[in-house]
Amino acid sequence: MGNRLEGKTAIVTGGGSIGPGIGNGKAAAALFAREGARVMVVDLNLEAAEETRRLIEGEGGSCFTSRADVSVAADCERIAGECVRELGRIDILHNNVGIEIPGGILEITEDDWDRTLDVNLKSIFLMCRAVVPRMVEQGGGSIVNISSINGIRTLPALSGAYGASKLGMVALTREIAVEFAAKGIRCNAVLPGMMRTPFVEASLTDAWGGDVADMMRQRDAMVPIGRQGESWDTAHAALFLASDDAAYVTGTTLVVDGGLTCGVRTAPQGG
Ligand SMILES: NC(=O)c1ccc[n+]([C@@H]2O[C@H](COP(=O)([O-])OP(=O)(O)OC[C@H]3O[C@@H](n4cnc5c(N)ncnc54)[C@H](O)[C@@H]3O)[C@@H](O)[C@H]2O)c1
Repeated sequence: MGNRLEGKTAIVTGGGSIGPGIGNGKAAAALFAREGARVMVVDLNLEAAEETRRLIEGEGGSCFTSRADVSVAADCERIAGECVRELGRIDILHNNVGIEIPGGILEITEDDWDRTLDVNLKSIFLMCRAVVPRMVEQGGGSIVNISSINGIRTLPALSGAYGASKLGMVALTREIAVEFAAKGIRCNAVLPGMMRTPFVEASLTDAWGGDVADMMRQRDAMVPIGRQGESWDTAHAALFLASDDAAYVTGTTLVVDGGLTCGVRTAPQGG
């Protein structure tokens, strides 16, 4: 247990996990609580959010949950109101929700395109529109948006809608950062690379040929560090940006990818 977020409150969207294990949002919620934050976990799947609450409370942390769809404006307004009612203020908004429906532009349907953009990108606009006025009133806050390196490079499983939504998040992050810098609000994005999380298994297995173990081996082998990242790697980057350690950091993108955006892994050199 630390104290980097002592006295702060945080909303974590998508703070459950899509499958067994610990995803990026669940890890961030748990880590924020370990560092002293009182956390509101929001998820479309209330049982997934409740699992995170049990994890946090089991470690002595403070958490409450709410079911919501962050692509729906009324839900986002309600979340912000509930957080202020329960916790008094909103210091950190951690926008973690994201879905991926793989496919190149000749494969993906128009509905899938719309859904991806709504859930991944419009949700950031809606959540920020609901939360930022509260942050302005209270004199500041920190927003962390979970984007992806897929916004700045292609990956083996083609994902046109996902990549477009994730780069859109980066542009929106910068806009919000500049617009509200003078109000004490910082806004940054984390760009995770290939992470070994339930999200990958749920979203990408078919696109990689259906064999999970083989997909994981191939993904590990591509990364210069020699393995995929963990959800905790994403969470630690988010913690830095959410905390006062990053007091002078806004409008930036923090890539957490084991070197993958620099290039794919080369064979070890003999000698
Ligand atoms: N795992 C990776 O390899 C990887 C890589 C780069 C970026 N990311 C990003 O990380 C984020 C997700 O990470 P995760 O591991 O927590 O994923 P996850 O799929 O486990 O998602 C967490 C939760 O989001 C909820 N959710 C989905 N749609 C929602 C909606 N409309 N409203 C509210 N909740 C909703 C799900 O019910 C789930 O419990 C995404 O933004 C994803 O794009 C993941």
